[in-house]
Amino acid sequence: MRLVFLGPPGSGKGTQARMVSESMNIPQISTGDILREAVARRTDLGKKARSYMDAGQLVPDDIMLALIEKRVDGTDCTGGYILDGFPRTLAQAMGLDEILTQRGETIDLAILIEVADETVVRRLTRRRICPACHALYNLDTDRPKRDNLCDRCGVELVLRSDDEEKTVRTRLNVYRNDTLPLADYYDSKGILRKVDGEGSVDEVFASIMGILTEVRQS
Ligand code: AP5
Repeated sequence: MRLVFLGPPGSGKGTQARMVSESMNIPQISTGDILREAVARRTDLGKKARSYMDAGQLVPDDIMLALIEKRVDGTDCTGGYILDGFPRTLAQAMGLDEILTQRGETIDLAILIEVADETVVRRLTRRRICPACHALYNLDTDRPKRDNLCDRCGVELVLRSDDEEKTVRTRLNVYRNDTLPLADYYDSKGILRKVDGEGSVDEVFASIMGILTEVRQS
């Protein structure tokens, strides 16, 4: 299945995409992770993307479309994938459809994870990430076993540069203006499903897997 995970920053797209990826054995394609890695390695892409990301703004559509076109061509994508954080604008959604049409493919399902703004602010200012393996933690709900060290690789956890409260609120505005309209775009194609993201990680996962099972059986 080719899946799109939509939702505001902090709605749990990354957390859920990782779990669904493991459960369905299809890759999670997180554009945020790809860009952060490029920034860390100081590649040309990273140099172009950094200022947008630090300000909580979107990286330009042409850059993102070129990146995704190359990524979905990967040999690991033949059995499907989860797009986590892409598309983010109408231009990206339409560009993605064009790329897929040329390949004789379509998006099967877009899952919108809904949470309130204050939930977003609380989760993101308490989130910590591993800069090495991208594992996610939360100081309220999912603490690392050893203080501020990644359980998997022992690297020191960090607060993402765009997780300061002011930048989180900018990202929420960008989401409302540029990304939320995609819900109508996918709804008009009959492939949008909404999930309440306010429950626990396991509850949200169960809702998503329920939808996926239903769609696969239909
Ligand atoms: P990106 O990395 O995609 O950030 P985002 O969409 O803002 O989403 P987040 O990663 O902040 O949150 P999430 O929904 O994945 O939540 P998570 O699972 O981590 O993008 C970053 C930047 O890159 C963008 O601002 C932009 O500049 C650029 N970019 C990326 N893609 C782009 C594109 N397509 N076009 C242009 N620019 C692009 O969870 C958050 C926290 O909550 C964690 O601590 C987690 O443990 C916790 N948590 C998760 N679920 C629950 C739950 N159910 N209950 C309690 N806690 C929970």
